[in-house]
Amino acid sequence: MTNLLRDPQDRRLPRIPEPCALVIFGVTGDLSRKKLIPAVYDLANRGLLPPGFVVLGFARRDWGDGEFEDVARRAAQQHARTPWRDEVWSRLVGNIKFVGGSFDDDAAFDQLASTLDELRATHGIPGNAAFYLSIPPPAFPTVLKQLERTGMADNKVSGGWRRVVVEKPFGNDLESAKALNGLVDDVFTGSDVFRIDHYLGKETVQNILALRFANALFEPVWNSHYVDSVQITMAEDVGIGSRAGFYDSAGAARDVLQNHLLQLLALTAMEEPTSFDSEEIRTEKLKVLRAITLPENLAENAIRGQYAQGWVAGQRVPSYHDEENVPPDSTTETYAAVRLGIQNRRWAGVPFYMRTGKRLPRRVTEIAVLFKKAPHLPFDSADVEMLGNNQLVIRVQPDEGVMLKFGSKVPGTAMELRDIAMDFQYGETFTESSPEAYERLVLDVLIGDKTLFPDSAEVEASWRVIDPLEEFWAGGKPLPYRAGEWGPRAADEMLARTGRHWRRA
Ligand code: BG6
Repeated sequence: MTNLLRDPQDRRLPRIPEPCALVIFGVTGDLSRKKLIPAVYDLANRGLLPPGFVVLGFARRDWGDGEFEDVARRAAQQHARTPWRDEVWSRLVGNIKFVGGSFDDDAAFDQLASTLDELRATHGIPGNAAFYLSIPPPAFPTVLKQLERTGMADNKVSGGWRRVVVEKPFGNDLESAKALNGLVDDVFTGSDVFRIDHYLGKETVQNILALRFANALFEPVWNSHYVDSVQITMAEDVGIGSRAGFYDSAGAARDVLQNHLLQLLALTAMEEPTSFDSEEIRTEKLKVLRAITLPENLAENAIRGQYAQGWVAGQRVPSYHDEENVPPDSTTETYAAVRLGIQNRRWAGVPFYMRTGKRLPRRVTEIAVLFKKAPHLPFDSADVEMLGNNQLVIRVQPDEGVMLKFGSKVPGTAMELRDIAMDFQYGETFTESSPEAYERLVLDVLIGDKTLFPDSAEVEASWRVIDPLEEFWAGGKPLPYRAGEWGPRAADEMLARTGRHWRRA
């Protein structure tokens, strides 16, 4: 059974992995420095790592264990969520190891294999290891082959469990995703493959299921009889930073619609699972993903944009074309908005709008369920002018929480009505801060809990939604929008045509 609804910080039920090693490929990269190493420190700080635990970095560097330890310490000090404590780090120090080499260097992989073997005697680790592939996709085949060649991927040879963690992008389209899945499945058993979609590690995202299925209040109205539309927004104020190499070949739809946003949609729209077993949850998500359809008129309902120069948070920022390493004639989108439908009884006719973009006015991710208007309002029309749709808004980040918006009487002698908000904020309700997504997910990998990891069928079903969009956009140009504005006007028109508008997120 899974632990999805259990607070991982709940000390009555600590989940501690068996003695194991976490092997990180690409350990000098940003993800490792900003997320993975800090997550390891935070888990150690919370007492959630087993006494026999080793982080083994692999990269093309001429480092010894000590140099890697220095880099790792700085990363943890800079980026960890929990306070720095020397005694926590001093317990980790002897458990930080490094093997240097390139991915095609057989000797380096042989050394990695023997280092893992030695951990049995030195650290009491009986062969358990998770391999985290924090590397560019083109390097996957080489690393997987090396893991196979050396027997490191083999549970039987190792005598313990061997797992692999694959970071997105899970391919570039359906075909490449299938090829990647095939490649990974050739080397690892399906149940040992963990695909990371870090949005599923966010506390607020897991709370979608708690909100829906632990309460009597929402589920009866969670359908096309009462819901007018759903808006899922993932807005970022940042640009692409130094990621042009990846981003320019992907674009907003492949980068986040295919994964984070479709996963949010699946959790919002899925049926109640028969239990919180990970298989049951994935089955329900998959059913929704497979029921998604694109509208016929993509020209009006699939909008993409690219930021021009503008102002974000008082700072002048360059256009996408002027970002470092972006080709001046790039037609990659930095904004995408699309209307989707879900072909099942619960959601027939309800539009699901998704939008995402870089260099939008602020960072906010939310799911807004907009309810239909009351069928009859026994008030003077002037008194209800200010009344909108009832809304339930799940604020994924920042200001994590849930907000319910509904009409109320404005105090005074007249029966004047206005929308007001009932607001739950994590920060005010709970004293402990939420674990970082990667903290939760790294722990789940080490424990072997797959609930929060999309499987290959989900990944492929998601590409089936995105591929036709990409085909439709191919050869065209994204619409320009000024940095600091909410995307191209065509995205507003998409909703306006049916009398709707984007929620001010
Ligand atoms: C990543 C995308 O998956 O998610 C990035 O590749 C994006 O482009 C990031 O910036 C956003 O993550 P978060 O957790 O900050 O919302």
